[in-house]
Amino acid sequence: MERNVEKMLNRVSMAFIIIGTLIMVIMILQTPKTCISPEAPSKPHTHFPRSTCDSSPRKHLPLPKKNARLWSSKAWTSRLSSFSSYFLRFRDLGLLRNHTKALCLSAGAGHAPMAMAHIRLYDVTAVELVDSLPLVRRADPHNLPFFDGAFDFAFTAHLDDALFPWRVVEEMERTVRRGGFCVVAVDECGGGDVREIARLFLKSKLVDVANVTLEGSKKTSILFKVQDFKT
Ligand SMILES: *[C@@H]1O[C@H](CO)[C@@H](O)[C@H](O)[C@H]1NC(C)=O
Ligand SMILES: *[C@@H]1O[C@H](CO)[C@@H](O)[C@H](O)[C@H]1NC(C)=O
Repeated sequence: MERNVEKMLNRVSMAFIIIGTLIMVIMILQTPKTCISPEAPSKPHTHFPRSTCDSSPRKHLPLPKKNARLWSSKAWTSRLSSFSSYFLRFRDLGLLRNHTKALCLSAGAGHAPMAMAHIRLYDVTAVELVDSLPLVRRADPHNLPFFDGAFDFAFTAHLDDALFPWRVVEEMERTVRRGGFCVVAVDECGGGDVREIARLFLKSKLVDVANVTLEGSKKTSILFKVQDFKT
């Protein structure tokens, strides 16, 4: 009697194991259909994501086309020319040359690096928390993925927005070679604020302060030369 019960229990547990294994195999093999075939829907505007794996960018506007549209917009071209004339100042000062290795931090959608390319800089790197290819790569300005002294020139117009401005400055000074330049454009300010910003630049000498108009707003542009006198 006991033997029979034991046998039956064994059979039941065996059956459960087989069923469980089968369910697991089915679950592993079955990938949601929306992930396998993200072909463009016939009516893009009636298409809504059906699951979390369906939130890939819309396929109906490829990146080069999207960029072409963005870059030809009036807003883009006016911001671009604003940056171009701003950077021309530094080229006229001899700080930006054809082969200057330039870095733009918090570059947004890429107006600044494109402007640098327009004034014929060949080696421009731009980073932002979100990439905008091909102009801007993804990187955190608080923790740049570049070697010490990799650049001749670093620029940011968003030091005031940084979570830890001192850390961004530290990274600018680390990645710019000794004798290179760091430039920040901040909301227009006077001597006291400029001195406060200058205090963040532990390894640099303040070279020039100028009030400029950038992207239609009044800014104060502060230029530093990296010296490496304090470490
Ligand atoms: C820099 O580029 C300009 C225009 O392309 C060219 O005329 C000039 O010779 C270049 N200078 C150097 C040093 O390569
Ligand atoms: C920039 O403008 C501010 C006033 O908004 C002024 O206090 C400051 O002296 C100006 N700086 C320069 C370098 O002209």
